[in-house]
Amino acid sequence: MKTRVLGNLEVPAIGFGAMVLSPGVYGEIDDTRAEAALKAALDAGGTHVDTSDAYGSDGHNERLVGRAIKGRRDEVVVATKFGLAIPDGEPSRSYPVGYAFGELRVNAEPRLVRGYAERSLRNLDTDVIDLYYAHYPDPGVPIEETAGAMAELVRDGLVRHLGLSNVSAGQLRAAHAVHPVTAVQNEWSMWRPVDADLLATARELGVGIVAWSPLGNGFLTGTVQALGEGDFRHNAPRFSAENLAGNNDRYAPIRSLATHLGLTPAQLALAWLLHQDEHVVTIPGSRTPAHIEENLAAADLTLHPDTLARIDEALRGFEVSGGTLL
Ligand SMILES: NC(=O)c1ccc[n+]([C@@H]2O[C@H](COP(=O)([O-])OP(=O)(O)OC[C@H]3O[C@@H](n4cnc5c(N)ncnc54)[C@H](OP(=O)(O)O)[C@@H]3O)[C@@H](O)[C@H]2O)c1
Repeated sequence: MKTRVLGNLEVPAIGFGAMVLSPGVYGEIDDTRAEAALKAALDAGGTHVDTSDAYGSDGHNERLVGRAIKGRRDEVVVATKFGLAIPDGEPSRSYPVGYAFGELRVNAEPRLVRGYAERSLRNLDTDVIDLYYAHYPDPGVPIEETAGAMAELVRDGLVRHLGLSNVSAGQLRAAHAVHPVTAVQNEWSMWRPVDADLLATARELGVGIVAWSPLGNGFLTGTVQALGEGDFRHNAPRFSAENLAGNNDRYAPIRSLATHLGLTPAQLALAWLLHQDEHVVTIPGSRTPAHIEENLAAADLTLHPDTLARIDEALRGFEVSGGTLL
């Protein structure tokens, strides 16, 4: 598996996003299937594993990851996040999102940061987090203050590298002035461009980008025709029955191009992303070992400049119905 460097942290170009492995995200999943998926990801070289204290209830996702890395901790870059799983009785602020439920609640106050990290370390059953992100900026707390508390975790050895998720260029710059940021994790895929200012700032500061939902929550695989019960995408306007059908129709040229190249649409979407910047990596999620192997194989693909130009042209004509989520 090809590797890339985020700040000064080396990771596989394609890792594994574990969010899909907790119930209530993409529908049914049990721990046996989740553990098999994690093992498949690690065995195939997807050893940058991304989780959060907010995935699943009561640290479920982190505990799954903790079990999967037992006995092979040194092979794995463990990344997790804080700020959305708020202790009972603590206040929170609204972070508006485009899902039907309208907002997330965030608390990234400095006084809570160490407690968040200690809880994640217990869930992960490890003594250090390789990459620790503020999951969302807290609208009630200057990001420098959150970053200051995160820097203390590095100083005290609980955390190796700092990350920020869902931030703007200005927020990245402000936090980076407090302590070097290794990676920014924002949504970026064929149907969700990254903010140009953020990308330019990350390049200038030497901060890597981790692209979340690189398969557009599964849409870009070309396989989503309808949603099952308990699937959180029912909250996402791009996946309403009407929008999904139209979006699938308009995505047809990319699916055809993938077939022409002998790739799956998922592989083309991931390889395209890796060609956007030398310091971007990605973390697709899947419950299915065959999908995981297919996705990880995309790390070694080289796309011809003509192919990239054809993709860009097709994407210019791909008008997405259903707004954006952030
Ligand atoms: N920082 C943030 O705020 C944030 C937000 C969202 C996500 N993330 C991170 O990004 C990671 C990935 O995002 P995501 O899981 O939302 O979306 P994604 O990786 O874009 O898509 C996952 C979906 O794609 C399907 N899939 C994957 N590979 C496939 C293949 N080869 N063929 C067909 N279907 C395939 C999966 O279904 P199967 O299980 O059936 O394969 C699943 O439904 C998360 O795990 C999380 O770590 C971060």
